[in-house]
Amino acid sequence: MTTADEIRRLAAERNAVILAHNYQRGEVQDVADYTGDSLELARRATQVEADVIVFCGVYFMAETAAILNPGKTVLIPDPTAGCPMADMITGAQLRELKAKHPGAKAVCYVNSTAEVKAECDMCVTSGNAERVMATFAPDEEIIFVPDQHLGSHIMGLLGRKYVLWPGYCPTHAALTAKSIADARAAHPGAPVLVHPECAKDVRDAADERLSTGGMCRYARESSASEIIVGTEVGILHRLREENPGKVFHPVNERLVCPNMKKTTLDNLAECLREMKTRVVVPEEIASRARRAIDAMLAIG
Ligand code: 13P
Ligand code: SF4
Repeated sequence: MTTADEIRRLAAERNAVILAHNYQRGEVQDVADYTGDSLELARRATQVEADVIVFCGVYFMAETAAILNPGKTVLIPDPTAGCPMADMITGAQLRELKAKHPGAKAVCYVNSTAEVKAECDMCVTSGNAERVMATFAPDEEIIFVPDQHLGSHIMGLLGRKYVLWPGYCPTHAALTAKSIADARAAHPGAPVLVHPECAKDVRDAADERLSTGGMCRYARESSASEIIVGTEVGILHRLREENPGKVFHPVNERLVCPNMKKTTLDNLAECLREMKTRVVVPEEIASRARRAIDAMLAIG
């Protein structure tokens, strides 16, 4: 059994920074230097001074860190930790879609492969999608991939139509409007937060549609003493640690992203000990993908 002390010692020896997503296991979040949502972690990855970035999350997140840091070593404890939504569209499929919509701007959710990002003009995360998408001129045709739900959520907010790809998150697909109604009945008066990756009827049944970072901010700022949380349950660890006086109820306590749970203290320690597995994005793809990510980060 690896201890947190061992990991901190290994990280110091390797001059490594450990970044963890809000859905990681509690013990992994606790040992990390920084825990955040996709946008916060991408921003953090641009500010790293250490030689090595260990990314505790899913593959596309580590890839984003590697794209933003071509000179650094980026490691992922379990390279099989993929995101099924990111794998729902390939670069070739996106090229085909673009050929059907000549002149359209292509936008990818950050939950996409480097190859798909390389085909896009702009990248968004759930934390900045509304702000970033608002920068497109009203008459521009927009292709949005791969998440149909985040895409339709932003279309609703901005009163626009995009060409959507039918991708979705299998974990969030388990949430239903009925489960939201049941949670409200069990905890009357508690506001309901859901992730914009949820289907429209679920989003409509909630009070707020927020990125995981947005949920952490909401919890800190809200006067509500009980909050119902409709996203992957890993976030409950951080919400409870940061808000000891408040009570958080998952809509569904079985809402687990199996890939996010592949990182453990054991494989994190092994990753630092053996310096593997390294995430490498070929520069030909990375340089094009970087344009879409940099365009997003420039908007803020
Ligand atoms: P956030 O950017 O809100 O952390 O979401 C990432 C994700 O994969 C949600 O399923
Ligand atoms: Fe991908 Fe869904 Fe897991 Fe997020 S929760 S990493 S979108 S499968």
